[in-house]
Amino acid sequence: MRKKFILDACCGPKCFWWNKNHPNTLYIDLRDRDKGFIDSRPNREIKPDKIMDFREMDFPDKSFKLVVFDPPHLIGKEDGCRMIKHYGCLNAETWQDDIKRGFNECWRVLEDYGVLIFKWNDASKKRAEVLRIIGKEPLFGHPNGSKIPTHWFCFMKIPKLTGKEEE
Ligand SMILES: C[S@@+](CC[C@H](N)C(=O)[O-])C[C@H]1O[C@@H](n2cnc3c(N)ncnc32)[C@H](O)[C@@H]1O
Repeated sequence: MRKKFILDACCGPKCFWWNKNHPNTLYIDLRDRDKGFIDSRPNREIKPDKIMDFREMDFPDKSFKLVVFDPPHLIGKEDGCRMIKHYGCLNAETWQDDIKRGFNECWRVLEDYGVLIFKWNDASKKRAEVLRIIGKEPLFGHPNGSKIPTHWFCFMKIPKLTGKEEE
């Protein structure tokens, strides 16, 4: 088995990782930044293993068992605040296409029966719209009506079985 069988498709400062250098994980992001890149106050570095665009990944199909996709959720605020500098921002003109392409790439590089975790925050766009753009139904995640703004959705790449294999 390959050593790196987990992919973080846009790791940023890896805030949600318990082990920020997990030995079985490949971390990618568009950016590479040293500590203190925001201002004089302390902030985390952004140090992916590879600089790569989640819309066009340089991996063969079905390379990973688990993919986590946590794209920027704020849209069209280029000269933003500290949070935008830290976590990035989607382009107001292209964000739908960018999310769709990113999700499709995460799906492509996922093995059959692999798991994709997608994180979204409703601050700029509601999850229902984003899930419509993605066009796949999660197995589970916060249902509509939840007042919590940050949502985690779990998808599994279950291959379509032919009639023969089905019970
Ligand atoms: C919300 S942050 C990720 C935060 C991260 N999960 C954490 O725990 O700190 C989103 C990241 O997506 C990156 N990003 C934005 N567009 C990207 C793209 N097209 N390809 C790869 N990374 C991208 C940004 O540079 C930013 O670091």
